[in-house]
Amino acid sequence: MDARPLRSSAPEAPLHGRVAVPGDKSISHRALMFAGLAVGRTRIEGLLEGEDVLRTAQAMRALGAEVTREADGAWQVWGRGIGGLVEPADVLDMGNSGTAARLLAGILASHPIFSVMTGDASLRGRPMRRVSEPLSQCGARFSGREGGRLPLAIEGTGEALPIEYRLPVASAQVKSALLLAGLNARGRTRIEEPVATRDHTEAMLRHFGATVRSEVAGAGRVIELDGQPELVAADVAVPGDPSSAAFPVVAALLVPGSRLAIDGVGLNPLRTGLFQVLREMGADLAVSGERVAGGEPVGDLAVSHSALRGVDVAPERVPSMVDEFPVLAVAASCAAGVTRMRGLGELRVKESDRLAATAALLACNGVRVEVEGDDLLVHGCGGAPPGGAPPGGGLVRTHMDHRLAMSALVLGMASRDPVRVDDAAFIDTSFPGFVALMNALGAAIAEDGGAEHWDAGHEGVGHGRAGHWDAGAGAGVRG
Ligand code: S3P
Repeated sequence: MDARPLRSSAPEAPLHGRVAVPGDKSISHRALMFAGLAVGRTRIEGLLEGEDVLRTAQAMRALGAEVTREADGAWQVWGRGIGGLVEPADVLDMGNSGTAARLLAGILASHPIFSVMTGDASLRGRPMRRVSEPLSQCGARFSGREGGRLPLAIEGTGEALPIEYRLPVASAQVKSALLLAGLNARGRTRIEEPVATRDHTEAMLRHFGATVRSEVAGAGRVIELDGQPELVAADVAVPGDPSSAAFPVVAALLVPGSRLAIDGVGLNPLRTGLFQVLREMGADLAVSGERVAGGEPVGDLAVSHSALRGVDVAPERVPSMVDEFPVLAVAASCAAGVTRMRGLGELRVKESDRLAATAALLACNGVRVEVEGDDLLVHGCGGAPPGGAPPGGGLVRTHMDHRLAMSALVLGMASRDPVRVDDAAFIDTSFPGFVALMNALGAAIAEDGGAEHWDAGHEGVGHGRAGHWDAGAGAGVRG
């Protein structure tokens, strides 16, 4: 993939309009996988056609499911039934997608086939032992690189034992991998999670006819799945991705005079932590038309420019907004006062080290940030009206991470000087059409010719007016 440098400047007029964002990434992966395990034909409407999900479609085809895109834009999957997947003839390349790799590892573990999975440089650097270790309990064997990383060879078993496991980290991917292995195990799979994480797997497995029980246990949940159900094809309507809606929402909050409507956004309470935090910061963000579509709550958002104030985000909130911290940090950089986001350790193992990279993103644009252990502190540039704006002027290094790229472009809309990103190509993994959609709303994002001046020796160091990020001291310093 060629690097795609972009530059985002403060728009000349407020952002205005009504849009829909692409389908939910988590739900799209699951729809393709579960449909591939069901008997019969599933029709999926609103599937996210981003790079990550297309990898899952490709992998399910390689495993014997029939996956097609219809003329009307819907997708159709003819499943093979639980235990019915076939051995892939070649390596499965999951691209940039941790969700695809980890959930598929669960499915492959309880099929009597051999497979090898790989991914791009970002995915090959991410931990896989968090799934391969507990999945080994079912009888599958995994052989990967140092640290259990991809490429990973999987020898699945046709006689899987059900797994009982307490998750050491709050991870919906790990929970889902174990439940998926349990589909083809005789007996009951039981997973305890310390803090409740997104429950799309549980909801969609029920939708396809499996018996899944979920009980609240303290801050977490205990989930039980009865093995070897008959999964029956069932149509899926994928809601708009709240993690994608987060970018236009924050952009509208930050650009003076803006007002946006975003229709059909998924509002699963285990995904909407960002919207709650933004309201606590003073955001004018309303939901209307709440309904249930395909077993998931959905609604329409209306958001207007608002003066924000810094808040304290508790660690228990993290799972409900785990992907939203880069863009929350951008919102915080325009707020009055300090925002402290606590307990962000898991951000270190996302598509990039998002804790360090988010700090660098802000620091190189003149915003004061500190990383204290697993906490991120952002000193907002806003204040009493008219308030201040972040200086901007930095060149942000995106580390193959779509959410960093989009967050940096949103920052540029609210900064005094434009913000540049070294490579926005990865935006297509989750939000194809992001730049066109934002520009149609009034944003000023353009190709940038200047990234060849990137100084690779200094992580996150911008040029021109930018400050520098001193990773050693754990604080951003504007030079
Ligand atoms: C996801 C779970 C989260 C999230 C990822 C999607 C999922 O990862 O960051 O973008 O679809 O289950 P973890 O489970 O690693 O927290």
